[in-house]
Amino acid sequence: MKQFTSVHDVQDVAALVNEALELKQSPYAHKSLGQNKTLGLIFMNPSLRTRLSTQKAGMNLGMNVMVMNLDKEGWALETRDGVIMDGTTVEHIREAAAVMGQYCDIIGIRSFPKLQDRNEDYSEDLLNKFIELTGVPIVSLESATRHPLQSLADLVTIKEQAAAGKRPKVVLSWAPHIKPIPHCVANSFAEWMQQADVELVITNPEGYDLAEEFTKGAQVLHNQDEALQDADFVYVKNWSSYEQYGQVLTDGEGWMITNEKLALTNNAKVMHCLPVRRGLELSHEVLDGPNSLVIEQANNRLYAAQAVLKRMLESL
Ligand code: CP
Repeated sequence: MKQFTSVHDVQDVAALVNEALELKQSPYAHKSLGQNKTLGLIFMNPSLRTRLSTQKAGMNLGMNVMVMNLDKEGWALETRDGVIMDGTTVEHIREAAAVMGQYCDIIGIRSFPKLQDRNEDYSEDLLNKFIELTGVPIVSLESATRHPLQSLADLVTIKEQAAAGKRPKVVLSWAPHIKPIPHCVANSFAEWMQQADVELVITNPEGYDLAEEFTKGAQVLHNQDEALQDADFVYVKNWSSYEQYGQVLTDGEGWMITNEKLALTNNAKVMHCLPVRRGLELSHEVLDGPNSLVIEQANNRLYAAQAVLKRMLESL
């Protein structure tokens, strides 16, 4: 595997999920694979789970791991081509990325969208420049439009938790939030679920439909109660408007998943990528109750990352 930026980089999704589950049983079985190999994890934005799980995944495979908060610890980065750098930026990505490629065998990069200009965000300019300029395999640690390591962990969790012999109904449910949130997790979840043996239903208020390139094939309902009927899994996530790009259009009253909402489902397991705003996106009662899978999801981030890094190490 030369890059992991979306589900389209994976030839056999079910096989990768199975590999993550095997690694969960024997996390140190491939400790010699990463010997004398270096993983660089570059963050332009905050992280808890992605940072720690990917770092640990590299260590479980015997890799040396370096982590850098490039936005705070690096030189102010210029990403536009052809500009005269007589302003505040100090180093161009053309040199910075190429230099990082000299030190690392695999690089992970996190770079969120700015949510100002849809075309700019959806062009994935920074991620593509890292792919072009580093010369080493690139793992997306969440880009402007997708969060593939999260989605792989989500699919691993659903595979583990689904009732045997039943194709689960999975509902991606929009949740309230106070500020504009990227589409990455929701886009990516929709894209991955459509490669899995599940029935995907997406529910969000009007004005919050995700880009069709991610949702085509899925049922999209603006009536949450209707969507929740007989659900086996409810994946809760906020996102800002795609149509009125980056805008918050409603306070989302009535959209938070509570025990009352869960009563509409088939005793659904509840998922969220975290961090979650308690009492706003998800109720305390659900998060602290028996249906919540959020900690197990976070645990599976480790084995998702390990499966991807293992594939990359094998292809070096
Ligand atoms: N879910 C997730 O990506 O968490 P972090 O932002 O803390 O890495």
